[in-house]
Order: sequence, then C-alpha cells, then structure tokens
Amino acid sequence: MNTPANSPEPTPVATSYWAIVPAAGSGKRMGAGKPKQYLPLAGKPLIAHTLENILQWPGLAGVIVAIAADDSEFEHLAAAQDSRVHTVTGGAERADSVLAALDFLSERAAPETSVLVHDAARPMVSRKDIESLLAAGATALLAQPASDTIKQSRDKSGEPTVEQTLPRDRIWLAQTPQKAPLAVLLNALKTGLAQAPETITDEASALELAGYHPQLVPACRSNFKITHPADLILAEALLQHRQTLEKLQSGTDT
Ligand code: CTP
Ligand code: MG
Repeated sequence: MNTPANSPEPTPVATSYWAIVPAAGSGKRMGAGKPKQYLPLAGKPLIAHTLENILQWPGLAGVIVAIAADDSEFEHLAAAQDSRVHTVTGGAERADSVLAALDFLSERAAPETSVLVHDAARPMVSRKDIESLLAAGATALLAQPASDTIKQSRDKSGEPTVEQTLPRDRIWLAQTPQKAPLAVLLNALKTGLAQAPETITDEASALELAGYHPQLVPACRSNFKITHPADLILAEALLQHRQTLEKLQSGTDT
C-alpha cells in the first residue's frame, strides 16, 4: 500500500521478543564492596536504570534476569514486581548466566523466538538503537565503529610496545544488546562453551564459531559498559543529559 507523500511513515510494530539480562557478576574491576549492578547511580541502583529502560522497549514479551545465587538485593527493586520480569540463578562466567536464562526460556517460548541479551551494566542504551536492532537481521548486535587509530602491541610481557597499526575501517567495538533466535543462540553457546570456552566472550562470538555472520548495527557510544569507578561518574553526568543525547542521536552519528 502506498503512503501519501506528506504523511509520516507508519511506525513498524515490533514482533514479540524476550530480553535476557546477565546480572550475576561480582564487579571485580569496579573494586567496590558489592557487585557493580547494585551501586547507586543517579539515586537508584545501576540495574534499576537498565531494567526500567528495557521494560519500555517496544514489543517486549518479558525479561529474564540471571542473578547470583547469594543475591539478596534484586527482590527489593521496583522492576522485580513487574509481571514480565523473571529471574534465574546465574553461573561462573557471563556465558553460563546467559545459558541459564536461555534454558529457562526454552521451556516457555518457541525455538524461533527472538532474544536480545543485554548487560545489566549498560543502563543507557537508546530507544533509537533498540529500534535499529529490532529492525536488523535475525542475528545482529549493537556495535560502535572504531574512531581511534588502532594499535596492536607486540606481546604481553614488560612495557607494551607497538607491533603494528591495524586498518580501522573494519574494526567495531561490540556492545549489547545482541540478538538471535532462541534455539540458534542456545545451540551456538552450548557448542562454543564445549569447544573453545575462552573465545566465547559475547553471544556473537558463539554465533561466529557456529558459522553465522551477525549484522553490525551502529550504536551510540553512550551505551558503554560500566566497568571502572570513573565510568559511574561519566554515566551519572550522561543520564542528566539523556534527553539532549537522544535528540542529538536521532539526527546524527554520535
Ligand atoms: N555477568 C553474569 N555472570 C557472570 C559474570 C558476569 O551475569 N558470571 C554479567 C555482569 O553482571 C554484567 C555483564 O555480565 O552485567 C557483563 O559482565 P562484566 O562487565 O564483566 O561484569 P562483572 O563480571 O561483574 O565485572 P568484572 O569482570 O570486573 O568482575
Ligand atoms: Mg566480567
């Protein structure tokens, strides 16, 4: 059907999908007295921002949060009361936590159900980037094209020195969410963890090992992962300017 030239394009309705949030890490690099997902950020725990953001994604069927076996904080979050939010016990590595959530979902959803895996430690993913990811191919991830010159060091011993400069035009920094059909991701992660566990650092790496070529969806750099203490200060500042950021991003590349 044609759309009249002066009418806005109809917003496509996202088909139903699930989100998985690995939140069972201990935050070693943050070095705080508790896991970083529960550290205060602009007046509430970091993970509260992430979950409130996710619960507004268009077409979301539900969220499965993988939490640590000894977690005593999750149940006190407002988002924990939302009927779309479920929890599972996470594992030793991030991939084990994601796998636990996929196992839970595979008993409740069809194998072709689309799944978006998103780190609890990324509270600032934008609505525009989520819409781009939902509109992308069946396997896809948010990623940022490298903007710095990329150096490869010689080896890990002693003071690092440059071996070479890598061509930047094909380098992307992987973010989350990362998207795949439920059964595809479950099989890829299980096989990847059995074959080469050290190489499985995100969902895409498992999919790559299984022969897939996930689509790289350009994303805003404000979707960084809160990892070190300074990241919390940066995130707090960015959250204060979120509306401005979202406006900027809807016009230009950031
Ligand atoms: N994660 C998880 N289960 C694990 C390890 C990590 O669910 N066994 C989650 C973290 O809670 C985080 C996301 O995976 O939301 C990304 O991991 P990362 O940033 O590495 O968090 P931590 O592992 O907690 O931090 P660190 O590596 O500094 O210890
Ligand atoms: Mg970690």
